[in-house]
Amino acid sequence: MARYEYMYTSFLCVFLLCCCYCPIMVMSQLSQNQTSTMANLSKLLGTSAPWNSGNHSNPCSWNGVTCDSTKSHVIMISLSGNSLSSSGFLPVLCQLETLQHLDVSNNSLTSIPAEFITECGRIKYLKLLNFSRNFLSGSLPTFLGFDALEYLDMSFNVLGSSIDIQLDEMIRLKSLNLTHNNFNGTLPTKLGKSMVLEQLVLSNNQFQGEIPEELFSYENLTLIDLGGNTLSGAIPTHIVQLSKLQTLILSSNNLSGPIPISILNITTLVRFAANLNRFSGSLPSDISNNLISLDLSGNSLSGPIPKNILSSPKMEVVDLSNNTLSGTLLLTSISPSMIRLRLGNNLLKGDIPSDAFAKAQNLTYLELESNALTGAIPAILGSCLNLALLDLSQNHLSGTLPPELGNLSNLQVLKLQMNKFYGTITTPFQIGQLQKLLTLNLSQNSLTGSIPSQISSLSNLKFLNLQMNNLSGSIPPSIGISTSLLDLQLGGNQLSGAIPSMPMSLQVAVNLSNNNFSGSIPSSLSSLDNLEILDLSYNKFSGGVPDDLAGMKSLTELLLTNNNQLSGVLPKFTHFVQVEYNGTSLVLPPASDNPTPSYYPGSRKKGSSVVVAILVAIAAAVFLVGLVTLLLVLVSRHYSKVNDENIHSGEDHRLPQVVQSHLLTLNGLHRSNIDFSKAMEAVAETSNVTLKTRFSTYYKAIMPSGSIYFVKKMNSTERALPASSHVRIGKEMEALAKLNNSNVMTPLAYVLSSDAAYTLYEFVSNGSLFDVLHHGSMGNSLDWASRYSIAVGVAQGLSFLHGITSSPLLLLDLSSKSIMLKSLKEPLVGDIEHYKVIDPSKSTGNFSALAGSVGYVPPEYAYTMTVTVAGNVYSFGVILLELLTGKPAVTEGTELVKWVLHNSMNKDYILDSNVSKTSQAVRNQMLAILQIALVCVSTSPETRPKMKSVLRMLLNAR
Ligand SMILES: *[C@@H]1O[C@H](CO)[C@@H](O)[C@H](O)[C@H]1NC(C)=O
Ligand SMILES: *[C@@H]1O[C@H](CO)[C@@H](O)[C@H](O)[C@H]1NC(C)=O
Ligand SMILES: *[C@@H]1O[C@H](CO)[C@@H](O)[C@H](O)[C@H]1NC(C)=O
Ligand SMILES: *[C@@H]1O[C@H](CO)[C@@H](O)[C@H](O)[C@H]1NC(C)=O
Repeated sequence: MARYEYMYTSFLCVFLLCCCYCPIMVMSQLSQNQTSTMANLSKLLGTSAPWNSGNHSNPCSWNGVTCDSTKSHVIMISLSGNSLSSSGFLPVLCQLETLQHLDVSNNSLTSIPAEFITECGRIKYLKLLNFSRNFLSGSLPTFLGFDALEYLDMSFNVLGSSIDIQLDEMIRLKSLNLTHNNFNGTLPTKLGKSMVLEQLVLSNNQFQGEIPEELFSYENLTLIDLGGNTLSGAIPTHIVQLSKLQTLILSSNNLSGPIPISILNITTLVRFAANLNRFSGSLPSDISNNLISLDLSGNSLSGPIPKNILSSPKMEVVDLSNNTLSGTLLLTSISPSMIRLRLGNNLLKGDIPSDAFAKAQNLTYLELESNALTGAIPAILGSCLNLALLDLSQNHLSGTLPPELGNLSNLQVLKLQMNKFYGTITTPFQIGQLQKLLTLNLSQNSLTGSIPSQISSLSNLKFLNLQMNNLSGSIPPSIGISTSLLDLQLGGNQLSGAIPSMPMSLQVAVNLSNNNFSGSIPSSLSSLDNLEILDLSYNKFSGGVPDDLAGMKSLTELLLTNNNQLSGVLPKFTHFVQVEYNGTSLVLPPASDNPTPSYYPGSRKKGSSVVVAILVAIAAAVFLVGLVTLLLVLVSRHYSKVNDENIHSGEDHRLPQVVQSHLLTLNGLHRSNIDFSKAMEAVAETSNVTLKTRFSTYYKAIMPSGSIYFVKKMNSTERALPASSHVRIGKEMEALAKLNNSNVMTPLAYVLSSDAAYTLYEFVSNGSLFDVLHHGSMGNSLDWASRYSIAVGVAQGLSFLHGITSSPLLLLDLSSKSIMLKSLKEPLVGDIEHYKVIDPSKSTGNFSALAGSVGYVPPEYAYTMTVTVAGNVYSFGVILLELLTGKPAVTEGTELVKWVLHNSMNKDYILDSNVSKTSQAVRNQMLAILQIALVCVSTSPETRPKMKSVLRMLLNAR
């Protein structure tokens, strides 16, 4: 009875409720109070509101406004991406007592008013607050109230300081995202008293110290991302308490110790990434059957790879590369789910187990490079039909190329370089079957026979490297019909004959050096308008150099060294082109007033071939490390798609394929001016090239707003690989963009494409110091005041970069070409990202030592092969000498330093007389600075002063 009574009353209640409220529902009326709040809001936002309130009197129909089903309450407001910069409107929103979701992400807000926190803290229904991607600075506000808040996203701001109890009052907080801020101190552990937190994203901040065990009291955590901080210490074993954990990301920290045995045992764990730390010890073998992705790359893990890890049934991605794992690959079988397997750069030995791959039908990326594997390529690999990338380079593999490789019709990248393969490229293996091939590197093997003409039918092939084999015969004439080839490396073989017509697509380099090519250099090469490097050195070419070559629009280097039958007058190249012609009978064109090109007749002399030899040897090692990482760049684009879809191929690559673009600057003007598609259009057009440095090409890009920017392309030749993953480049760029020094050129934005990295800078119309000093119309007349001011400015910039406390930022290729002039007195040190981007950590120092500009490279680099602070001081000394002498770093066929030392008895001969003669005071000052320059270029690196002292000396010499 009581039950019926209860039902009856409930029914009555509902009935009554309807009677009272239905008329309102029918009229869909927003309360007067909320209507006027929305009107206020509209007034405050003005034209930056996403809605056009004039048209609709009912705010529920405005863009970005969501009301409940009865249209009587506003429950969601999204003002995302409206260029809002003033926070004044925020407290008004708090008058909407029914608000559940508030999204103000992707704006330019710099602060959250205190009233917003106090007033919105009272809203009983507010579940979601999204402030991500703004410019909020200062420390995290203390959230008092906010009893209903479940999702708080403050990611991608510039909030800083440490986090203590600011979040602890919240009782429903389930998801906290603070990624990409500047928070520091230890990891916060007070994240809501009620302990209901499920998702915790604190990555890419500056948190330090150990991972606190208190975090593991949040038993409902399913996702923890602490990547990209400077956390240290071991992973606490109590982490196994988190019995619901699905994703654990600890990448890019300084964590050490072993990977706790139990961690892979958490049965719910699906993804575990602890790459780029200092973990050591052996890999746990007991792993959860649910694990899908495991990334432990870039640690110091050792011992064998447990079978379970690779055969776990759901496993899709395993990356154990860059460790010191050893032993043989004794696999029974690789998981049929496996998509990507990276074991490169370890100490693995023995044969590649052939039956292991029998069921790996989904395997798309297989990277076993830089190990000590032996034996032949197992034929069974030919049955992994999804393979898009196969990298077995730098092992001790031998035998002939198995014909089964020809079955891999999805293969895009095949890297077998630096092994001991022999036999020919064509039989029985048919290279022509690999129609999707983009990159083929068979260099440094013992392959024989000729270059198969099938190569020309590979319509997607961009990078072909057959260097340093025993190939003979001539280049197949059909190569000219290739449509995609960007880079052709055929150096160090026994190829002969004449050069056939080359594909117009060539861009990076044509390297035919160290072969037996003969005949004349065809003038048809001049049609290769995008080609940057043409290396014909060490051959038997004869006759003259066709004048047309001087018209090659993109050429930066022409190497003709050691072709002793070449003769005649060299064509007149522009100053962008470095021509080397030692060991030929070529002579320079007659001088004229025009800017002189960079001819290097004898400056490198025989040393040049030694350098080349060292280069080849070292580059081989460095290159591999580089390549592995370049591959990341090249391939991660595909990789990122892996989980969703199959690899795309045969894409059109005329415009750079943008993988990622990102604004770095906080300056609102730049942010609104920069248009990425315009920037990419600009780099597609060689006529926009305004400057070239050793590692990069500057393009001028005019944005739709009319403002001009530099887009700098980092050349992706083997001399300058963007040897790093996207994430890494992005992170480095973000750090660089934060550098603040008036003499340092900092990036405003960057774009990553499949094969290059682009950075956007403020345009500098004066160009580089090199241009102004040696080629500009004002070169000779650049007065002393300007030169001195430039010297001090560069020293200031460098001592700032060298003084960065976390770690000095060095210049890979410091020269007058990398100094930009904002005005004739204000220099900017450019190309600062090369050290970080071209070389993330390891070997690239080696590159730069070899590839650094002639004349600026300190003598010790030849032995140390690393870039150093003292090395930068030497290069700076050379720049001082350029300012003092007015002469380029290579002058009269020798390095400027040697020229100056040779003439050191006659100081007045050394100094640029146009300047030194202006007054005795100027001359004295120049002599004082010459002393400083000479200390900087001392042979012994130990005796060179630090930049800070150099700066002080320069200022004292005023
Ligand atoms: C709406 O009501 C709230 C609370 O009753 C009040 O504080 C606020 O001032 C009112 N807003 C308007 C615009 O009348
Ligand atoms: C944390 O950041 C704040 C502000 O950015 C700074 O003042 C403080 O020194 C930093 N603390 C540490 C330990 O780095
Ligand atoms: C912040 O993290 C949460 C939880 O993982 C995620 O849903 C959200 O998209 C992230 N925010 C941004 C701006 O990426
Ligand atoms: C974890 O979540 C469950 C289900 O959502 C909830 O009942 C429980 O109270 C939460 N645990 C803690 C420690 O709050």
